[in-house]
Amino acid sequence: MPKMTFIEKNGNVLEVEAPLGLSVMEISHKHGVDIEGACGGCLACATCHVVLRPDWYEKLNEKKEEEEDMLDLAFDLKKTSRLGCQILMTEELDGLVVALPGAKLPWE
Ligand code: FES
Repeated sequence: MPKMTFIEKNGNVLEVEAPLGLSVMEISHKHGVDIEGACGGCLACATCHVVLRPDWYEKLNEKKEEEEDMLDLAFDLKKTSRLGCQILMTEELDGLVVALPGAKLPWE
């Protein structure tokens, strides 16, 4: 099974199993990572915001306009910010690394 890594606000690094087809937001919920996802993944909040490690950001599909609009409302927006509900796990994303907003980014 693919894996992914969350960097939590306190700097804790958590590597977890990431079932194919689940979103980063859903994976965070399975493992008790503090990502809210208030709208359940329908692009109507920005509480699933995550910051991608830049090499992973490059590998994702382009953002939809609706995602851009919601991200504008997100706290601690970075150049590699995305909405976690819009990133679906694939084999290609095995090893994905994302940080929660407010975490110190180890790659900066
Ligand atoms: Fe609301 Fe992602 S959970 S936009």
